Amino acid sequence: MASDRPFTCSVFIGTSLDGFIARQDGDLGWLTSRGEAAGGDLGYQEFIDGIDAVVTGRGTYEAGLSFDPWPHEGRYVAVLSSTLEPGADPRVTVFRDLDGLVRGLAERGTKSVYVDGGQVIRAFLRAGMIDQVVITTVPVLIGTGVPLFGELGGDVPLTHVSTEVFGAGVVQSAYRVEHPPA
Ligand SMILES: NC(=O)c1ccc[n+]([C@@H]2O[C@H](COP(=O)([O-])OP(=O)(O)OC[C@H]3O[C@@H](n4cnc5c(N)ncnc54)[C@H](OP(=O)(O)O)[C@@H]3O)[C@@H](O)[C@H]2O)c1
Repeated sequence: MASDRPFTCSVFIGTSLDGFIARQDGDLGWLTSRGEAAGGDLGYQEFIDGIDAVVTGRGTYEAGLSFDPWPHEGRYVAVLSSTLEPGADPRVTVFRDLDGLVRGLAERGTKSVYVDGGQVIRAFLRAGMIDQVVITTVPVLIGTGVPLFGELGGDVPLTHVSTEVFGAGVVQSAYRVEHPPA
């Protein structure tokens, strides 16, 4: 699955210094307030302009429903979920598992995928399907919350590509994922 997919997969995500992407109750204020203090969009628009499909977990999809405007209007959005009713939201396509998702993305000629949501990112990493990771770290420890990383089933070697320091102590690092030859 990792080597024969016809598209690249990227992560672009904000975390606390201790590696959380949301508080347990979903609160993101600790992240957005520091992102705003840093100024600018921290490279998001340039990143998203190069993307032709967004893949999220149900958790991230549901969190996004409270945003006004909805963050992915006009983009192809695939949601991985075993519970979400297919067709319940015409803006998204629901896939039950990774294999079906990869087939669906390939069938529509996808070239570049944005993978979002902690569980889904970990599922993609375990499947060897992440090529690029951009992590924006804000200077706070929140102690507990929704984790970005976790059990992987093996090391994932990375090559550091760049690090940029924004205002307010926000640091963004990009890594390329090294895929061992099959
Ligand atoms: N800091 C940031 O930049 C950032 C970015 C994105 C999200 N977030 C936050 O992170 C939280 C959500 O992250 P999360 O890690 O809890 O959840 P998530 O990865 O967005 O979604 C988890 C759900 O996705 C489905 N799923 C995951 N892997 C699957 C697989 N292989 N096959 C089928 N379904 C699969 C399952 O849904 P079912 O239970 O329906 O099967 C699972 O419960 C939200 O609070 C969101 O606001 C923060």
